[in-house]
Amino acid sequence: MACDKVVVSSPATIANFGPGFDSFGLCLESPRDRISMRRLPNDKLEVKVIGKHKLPRDPLRNTASYAAIKLSELCGCERIGFSMTIRKGMKPGSGLGSSAASSTGGALAMAALLGMRKKELILEAAAMGEELVAGSRHFDNVSAALYGGFTVVSDLSTRTVIKIRPPLFQVVVVVPDISIETKKARGILPQQVPMEHAVRNIGLASGMLHAMLKRNVRQIGACLDDKLALPYRAALIPGYERVRNAALSAGAYGVSLGGSGPAIFAITGGNASKIRRSMAEAVGEAGLKSESFVTVPGKGARVESRS
Ligand code: HSE
Repeated sequence: MACDKVVVSSPATIANFGPGFDSFGLCLESPRDRISMRRLPNDKLEVKVIGKHKLPRDPLRNTASYAAIKLSELCGCERIGFSMTIRKGMKPGSGLGSSAASSTGGALAMAALLGMRKKELILEAAAMGEELVAGSRHFDNVSAALYGGFTVVSDLSTRTVIKIRPPLFQVVVVVPDISIETKKARGILPQQVPMEHAVRNIGLASGMLHAMLKRNVRQIGACLDDKLALPYRAALIPGYERVRNAALSAGAYGVSLGGSGPAIFAITGGNASKIRRSMAEAVGEAGLKSESFVTVPGKGARVESRS
């Protein structure tokens, strides 16, 4: 049913999740963006951003409002005026899918105003919002943000997304106080990779899917490695290896980079506070401040209220 006002929440996500470059995504229960949107009686567009993070107010440059506009276009609607207020739950440029959270939330909010429920269209519009910021239409973050749980973009050309309910584990996240633009972090990746690296990733990615389906958290951790993007991007993060070793020594099952970084995450079945402390200390030893938190795999973007 269409409505005039809606509030949605949209989660942080971990793209790539080890070996699944541009394919795997894990949805986190928190943090989440909150987006409220109401129809305006005219075709005016307004964007307000609450909180400490600076984001564009121009509706055609803000990823959330842009995705909302794209969704209405995909639905064949005339321009719809709206006022949107965004409260960011995560820092942009941190590797936690900030732009995907915004764009998925914006597209979902517009879908709710229109009374439209087709997830494929919401996903497409969200990916357009992602493209505005990242310069490429990758679907890993937006798929996880929309569907929740663990997602695999198994065929981009047909937009085939596999959804898997992950087992329960804790995700420890440390975000060093540097910002890495996704566009730049994609720009440094080689266009060709050695065959042995491709083979290693195929093995790890297959092992990851098996571990998810068997709900084997230790094996999930063991498959958290990558040869396609991680080696190049880790070099942008002072102390990455030190943080990784600190997490593993404190009992983490596996460690990797959140999307294009700088967020570093570890997964574990227990001991999360100790792992978090060790990782934060290691970032400090590398000369950087950080924010850190512990969360769990979560549900996707959702409508919190509508009227
Ligand atoms: N898969 C994308 C990348 C995610 O690694 O560039 C960016 O957040």
